[in-house]
Amino acid sequence: MLKSCCVYSTGVLCILVLIAGITLVLSQIFPNLVYKRIKSEVVLKNGTDAFAAWANPPPPVYMQFYMFNLTNPIEVLAGNKPAVVELGPYTYREYRPMLNVVFLENGTKVEAVNPKTYVFEASMSRGAETDLIRTVNIPAMTVMEKVKDMPFVPGLINDFMKGQGIGLFTTVTVGDLLWGYEDKLLAAAKAFDPTLDTVFGLFYKMNGTDDGDYVFYSGSQNYQDFAGVALWKGQSSLNWWSSDECNMINGTNGAFFHPLIHKNETLSMFSSDLCRSLYAVFEKELWVKNLPAYRFVPPSEVFANLSINPANAGFCVPAGNCLGSGLLNVSPCKQGAPIIMSSPHFYQADEKFVKDVIGMKPRKEYHETAIDLNPLTGIVLRAAKRLQVNVMVEKLEAFSQTGNVSTLVFPVMYLNESVVIDDASAKKLLSVVTMSNVVINIPFMVVGLGVLLGIIFMVLMCRKNTPESSPAEREPLLKP
Ligand SMILES: *[C@@H]1O[C@H](CO)[C@@H](O)[C@H](O)[C@H]1NC(C)=O
Ligand SMILES: *[C@@H]1O[C@H](CO)[C@@H](O)[C@H](O)[C@H]1NC(C)=O
Ligand SMILES: *[C@@H]1O[C@H](CO)[C@@H](O)[C@H](O)[C@H]1NC(C)=O
Ligand SMILES: *[C@@H]1O[C@H](CO)[C@@H](O)[C@H](O)[C@H]1NC(C)=O
Ligand SMILES: *[C@@H]1O[C@H](CO)[C@@H](O)[C@H](O)[C@H]1NC(C)=O
Ligand SMILES: *[C@@H]1O[C@H](CO)[C@@H](O)[C@H](O)[C@H]1NC(C)=O
Ligand SMILES: *[C@@H]1O[C@H](CO)[C@@H](O)[C@H](O)[C@H]1NC(C)=O
Repeated sequence: MLKSCCVYSTGVLCILVLIAGITLVLSQIFPNLVYKRIKSEVVLKNGTDAFAAWANPPPPVYMQFYMFNLTNPIEVLAGNKPAVVELGPYTYREYRPMLNVVFLENGTKVEAVNPKTYVFEASMSRGAETDLIRTVNIPAMTVMEKVKDMPFVPGLINDFMKGQGIGLFTTVTVGDLLWGYEDKLLAAAKAFDPTLDTVFGLFYKMNGTDDGDYVFYSGSQNYQDFAGVALWKGQSSLNWWSSDECNMINGTNGAFFHPLIHKNETLSMFSSDLCRSLYAVFEKELWVKNLPAYRFVPPSEVFANLSINPANAGFCVPAGNCLGSGLLNVSPCKQGAPIIMSSPHFYQADEKFVKDVIGMKPRKEYHETAIDLNPLTGIVLRAAKRLQVNVMVEKLEAFSQTGNVSTLVFPVMYLNESVVIDDASAKKLLSVVTMSNVVINIPFMVVGLGVLLGIIFMVLMCRKNTPESSPAEREPLLKP
């Protein structure tokens, strides 16, 4: 009597537990609790971890430069393909703190500047800043392009260049090419244009300077806005494109991500070097330091030619003069210097550009831009922005310096700006992810418990009805 009571209560309990478990699974209460908690943590508020990480990112960011050293200048002037040797990396540790932080409008927005400082990291470099690189003389190419159609001026400049021994190619140190050097030709040209800066460098004036005042969303009103840019130099992001395409060149290199990322989302990023905003789409799932990650990459349309992506019309400069896929002409943003951006080694660009230069070997894993995010929290686990700086080189009738050079997109260098989450943050994040998974799975554990009780119930039922368990009781039944 007591025994069967026990058995039936097990059955009832099993059903109750199952109902409770299934209700919990269907109602999504536990995941929602976790998501709510994460959303409340991801806000730029004095004192939160998110704010500390935003104001002073703990993992080291490295900027690595790879230079292309030209080996055959004489042959190139005769019209042959250039052959280049890749040198580097020349690695810099990048410091990018948020400064002058002020909270606005009840903490819904945050104002700040974001200067970047680069410090050479010899231990992670192959070579020194004093290494010599032979490459295109970018100031000379720029000046020649600018004056080529003027009367008399090309002749004067041609003579000056001859006298000074300035040609299409030059040999400079890595440090000078990046951070700036006094250029003889620009110094001479200053006589005609007093506003001219006589120093040239690919990253000239970029060390320790900020690119203007930002206003960010704190995420307190909508977690999806977290750390998004509301205003830059007093302008809303919607106006950056329409007002001045080149505004973007000075813009942040940041990207903002929110928690609870879905695979079908398009993530926004900015790139100051490209004069534009970029976007990235989901590629695959992977693991970074034992943490689950989604990899997002810019789709090939971002760099596609006009027939594939009409939005790239802005990069056909002058209007109608379009380059092929994989190249963006940013000369309007670089004071008219014929600078063209691409992925390193012309990855994802037309085959033609790869074939035009001996030494180009595009490879997806080394040359793509990619960002790996933890989908639950939106935290960046690893990122690499990879870009190549090229110069458009062509024969100019007015200048003997250009010899018989073929028209080509000449690679100067590429950069890889990368970051990997530091071990301490990874450990902290791992415990958050593990804890969240446990909580999210509580309803399933309840269902599991219900199933277990069901099994126990059935076992007890069988035992209760099996004859061997109580032969004395069964015997009369067998002998009617
Ligand atoms: C954050 O709080 C600390 C200590 O209360 C204070 O010193 C600091 O100025 C605050 N920062 C901002 C940006 O308000
Ligand atoms: C800030 O919050 C207070 C009280 O909640 C409200 O009266 C005020 O309008 C808010 N100010 C802004 C700029 O949102
Ligand atoms: C950038 O500035 C910092 C601090 O002023 C300095 O230590 C560093 O050497 C500079 N880097 C370069 C490449 O000039
Ligand atoms: C680059 O090439 C130039 C010219 O051949 C040479 O002098 C220089 O040493 C090379 N640079 C490096 C770092 O090998
Ligand atoms: C961008 O920066 C350059 C100098 O680095 C400056 O001449 C130019 O005016 C800036 N452009 C905008 C739109 O602020
Ligand atoms: C654009 O690129 C596609 C694919 O690379 C190619 O088939 C097409 O001919 C290109 N169009 C132009 C105008 O270059
Ligand atoms: C940056 O990219 C280059 C190749 O593109 C690669 O060799 C290098 O290891 C990368 N650096 C980091 C820190 O990931």
